[in-house]
Amino acid sequence: MKVLHIDSSILGAASVSRQLSQAIVDQLQTKHADLAVDYLDLAAQPIPHLTGAILMGQDAEQAALGEKIIQQYLDADIVVVGAAMYNFGLTSTLKAWIDRISVAGKTFKYTENGPVGLAGEKKVYIASSRGGVYGENSPVDFQEGFLKTVFNFTGVNDVEIIRAEGVNMGPELKDQAISSALTQVQAL
Ligand SMILES: Cc1cc2nc3c(=O)[nH]c(=O)nc-3n(C[C@H](O)[C@H](O)[C@H](O)COP(=O)(O)O)c2cc1C
Repeated sequence: MKVLHIDSSILGAASVSRQLSQAIVDQLQTKHADLAVDYLDLAAQPIPHLTGAILMGQDAEQAALGEKIIQQYLDADIVVVGAAMYNFGLTSTLKAWIDRISVAGKTFKYTENGPVGLAGEKKVYIASSRGGVYGENSPVDFQEGFLKTVFNFTGVNDVEIIRAEGVNMGPELKDQAISSALTQVQAL
């Protein structure tokens, strides 16, 4: 079983989303002895932004990287995404990864009836962390809904969110939020 584990927080060892995404992968490892984990640290090794030249296939090096990134996504049975909320949305490095995997003919196709996802059977876990409290479906939360939409768009409907929020609202709330998220992880 293949897992693609992605982190994007800039906060290194202090990152909540990194702690949660690692806990999810550790938990998966207790359930599946045959787990093979591919790891992308988008803060340490950012994927260059999509450019016109890349889109038009004029940059051979980046085209090869794009193919590799898409294949890695397509091959994964499970994707675990550490998603920190920055300015109500995603880290720009995670957005850069999304811009590379959302490719017509690869992860989705256009049809007469609208777009159809091609990424197949897959489970996505999103380890979401945010400083404030938003809950579900907040109109100013452009992080979780955006990620769900993108994964759904590529055909992946099994998206589960493990959330720690209010982590910048004092140490007590932070501890509570992390421990409740970790309890959720242990139940996976
Ligand atoms: C650049 C930056 C922007 C942030 N923007 C928001 C925000 O818009 N809303 C919010 O609730 N928290 C915001 N925060 C707080 C983070 O969401 C919070 O620290 C979270 O734990 C980040 O995930 P991480 O610990 O994995 O880095 C921001 C933090 C940083 C560093």
